[in-house]
Amino acid sequence: MPTLQFKGKSAIQHHHLAIPYHQLTADPALSQSAAPGLHDNLIVHGDNLLALKSLLPIFGGKVQCIYIDPPYNTGNEGWTYNDNVNSPMHQEWLKRVVDRDDLTRHDKWLCMMYPRLRLLRELLADDGAIFVSIDDNEMHHLRMLMDELFGERHFAAVVVWQKAYSPRMDSEGFSVAHDYILVYRKSDATRLRRLEFAQNRKQFAYVDEYTQRAYRRRSLRKEGKDSLRADVPSMFFPLRAPDGTEVYPIKPDGLEGRWRWSPRKYAQELAAGNVEWVCQDGTWHVYARQYLDPAASQPPDTLWLHDAVGHNHEAQEEVAALVGRRVFETPKPVRLIQRILRIGADPDAIVLDAFAGSGTTAHAVLALNAEDGGNRRFILIEQEDYAETVTAERVRRVITGAPEAKDAALRDGCGGSFTFLRLGAEISDATLLSGEALPSYLDLARYVFFTVTGEPLDERGVDESRWYLGRSRQYDEVYMIYRPDVEFLKRTPLTLDWAGGLAHAGAINRLVIAPYKLLDDDVLRDLRIDYCQLPFGIYRREAGSRE
Ligand SMILES: C[S@@+](CC[C@H](N)C(=O)[O-])C[C@H]1O[C@@H](n2cnc3c(N)ncnc32)[C@H](O)[C@@H]1O
Repeated sequence: MPTLQFKGKSAIQHHHLAIPYHQLTADPALSQSAAPGLHDNLIVHGDNLLALKSLLPIFGGKVQCIYIDPPYNTGNEGWTYNDNVNSPMHQEWLKRVVDRDDLTRHDKWLCMMYPRLRLLRELLADDGAIFVSIDDNEMHHLRMLMDELFGERHFAAVVVWQKAYSPRMDSEGFSVAHDYILVYRKSDATRLRRLEFAQNRKQFAYVDEYTQRAYRRRSLRKEGKDSLRADVPSMFFPLRAPDGTEVYPIKPDGLEGRWRWSPRKYAQELAAGNVEWVCQDGTWHVYARQYLDPAASQPPDTLWLHDAVGHNHEAQEEVAALVGRRVFETPKPVRLIQRILRIGADPDAIVLDAFAGSGTTAHAVLALNAEDGGNRRFILIEQEDYAETVTAERVRRVITGAPEAKDAALRDGCGGSFTFLRLGAEISDATLLSGEALPSYLDLARYVFFTVTGEPLDERGVDESRWYLGRSRQYDEVYMIYRPDVEFLKRTPLTLDWAGGLAHAGAINRLVIAPYKLLDDDVLRDLRIDYCQLPFGIYRREAGSRE
């Protein structure tokens, strides 16, 4: 398979592995939740490269639907390459606005996307899919990159979305009226859903006298292409009308035609009540009955017109109705994202948008849940400060209601909740083991407890003198053996003496977080103790507890 070469590729191919984990710290004041936690819908304020890495230990392999709408690299978005890649060229690129005159603008964009797409792929569930909005600036590059990272065989579609309903009069040459949405499956296990569609009720003019179901008639004689006896001779045979007359498939012009069904299929359908004979002017005609299906579905097609899924102006109006005009330049319409969710997400899916902008994806998730009773969850990431004032604020109003909104459902609010997270300090072997900037017992306890259990720590219950943190939904007791002192961490394992002392206090489930252990797994199992090693074990526990 041909692959795309670009400047800087060799330096970023493994960059996602070098990115450190960071604390994810809940901000209750900006959250819309009675119990902020990682089990909630999430809005993360921060660079998505760091955020995706920090989410990986908790959500790796669990996200069913990813939608991203990255900068299109139009040359006038004002984006800068910000990744701290260890190469002189990447360092040279840092913080310089990428404009049309930049001869390396495609290389920079690809270097920005590459590690993010790698992390996104790791977050996807095996049956998941990723949908990427893009336009002509990077479409051809992105497609090759996606082929490389997701596999050519997992390409699903290039959707053309009609984003504008009238031409731009100031365009030179063509007025571009569409964007693309590039769709890839994670694996062969991914199943993209069919879309419901309303059949035209008027075409179903007949009603079955027994079941009262509406139906339409379709001639059993084949019409159009390959409809002559000579085309399929075996399909020319007599059928017996209700009065015993033998009827052949003769066309109105007298030519010999053919039936659509074989004799065997005709017999089956006749027995099932799906055949109707009609006598008109002394001539018998035979029809198949096609019943109206209220849950009719069809595969999604690749041309999405603005009247079905919205356009850019509609998206602007949606943002304006919730958080005001001119607060965000490039939103997508809610109906567009809902179409994506209908195709890519089950009603209980986790949906991720790592370039969240005004928060349309959260809006679409909450509105769809309110409409169909689903339980989809969202994770949004936005790096700009408007994560607080636009993204979170819009989602808050979708939840609680916007009295001015035209849409009745929005006026009342769709319900739901979210937790607002910030990227905190880096967590790594290096920081923990070097002894520099070790967090205090309570700081680490807050983070570790939150990460392991998904619940905020009740600090009033913490008793550092016996390493006790508190209880969670899963554990009766959670302990953390830790002191911000490298020598202590090196010489303080979880021992049999200490663990045995705990076990005397009754047969309950405990979790102990410690720098290391001098006990084997069988002993811990007998003592009903789950063990997590600091610092990375906390992630494994969290992932395991969700299995
Ligand atoms: C085209 S907008 C997305 C619009 C969004 N689909 C909507 O409907 O509002 C792209 C967003 O990605 C954000 N972004 C760009 N680079 C980012 C990064 N490295 N981390 C997080 N967000 C980023 C930008 O700040 C911008 O808000």
